[in-house]
Amino acid sequence: MQISDDWPGYSLDLFTYPQHYYGDLEYVLIPHGIIVDRTERLAKDIMQDIGDNDIVVLCVLKGGYKFCADLVEHIKNLSRNSERFISMKVDFVRLKSYHNDQSMQDMQIMGGDDLSKLTGKFLMFCKDIVGTGRTMKVLLNNIENYKPKMIKVASLLVKRTSRPDGYRPDYYGFEIPDLFVVGYALDYNEHFRDLNHICVINDHGKAKYRV
Ligand code: IMP
Ligand code: MG
Repeated sequence: MQISDDWPGYSLDLFTYPQHYYGDLEYVLIPHGIIVDRTERLAKDIMQDIGDNDIVVLCVLKGGYKFCADLVEHIKNLSRNSERFISMKVDFVRLKSYHNDQSMQDMQIMGGDDLSKLTGKFLMFCKDIVGTGRTMKVLLNNIENYKPKMIKVASLLVKRTSRPDGYRPDYYGFEIPDLFVVGYALDYNEHFRDLNHICVINDHGKAKYRV
């Protein structure tokens, strides 16, 4: 699903959102309901492609936790009501790359279970957003060392940026303009994760929460 560069978004007045973010946002880019509905379809596509396999869902924290939870929930529901089913385990990995709204050079991989358990497994990364694609590349390079059987990547959002290597995840919900977005677990310096909709932050918001 493509959201074009000239898409004006929805007025914030049409929805509810936390009062502590009044004045900090420009507009709603993707309302919560549409995120959930699109995620349901991704779950169906994933089921069709890899049903009957056991998978390990690797949630990329922190931004991926909402998408991962909703995707897993949809897969569970679809499994329950069909002949096809996926048996799932869930694990978490953490990477940090952003300072304010600029991508940083150094990335740290943290947390998660013992990654050697992933050897021979069918992995599904759940990520919030692919921007430059650099984070995903670091993750994939790292995880490949553990020799999983297969790696798939699901990202809720893909940014229309110039990605030198043209990387695309296997599954994604929305291709969005090259804007800094927050909400639905995506943050700006740890703020806005508690916002349901995916919104574009304004200059006031950026200044207020700058570190
Ligand atoms: P990449 O390495 O440029 O692809 O960036 C990936 C990571 O940067 C994502 O997992 C996010 O955590 C963060 N990020 C990139 N773009 C945005 C954004 O628009 N809003 C919030 N976080 C973002
Ligand atoms: Mg972040």
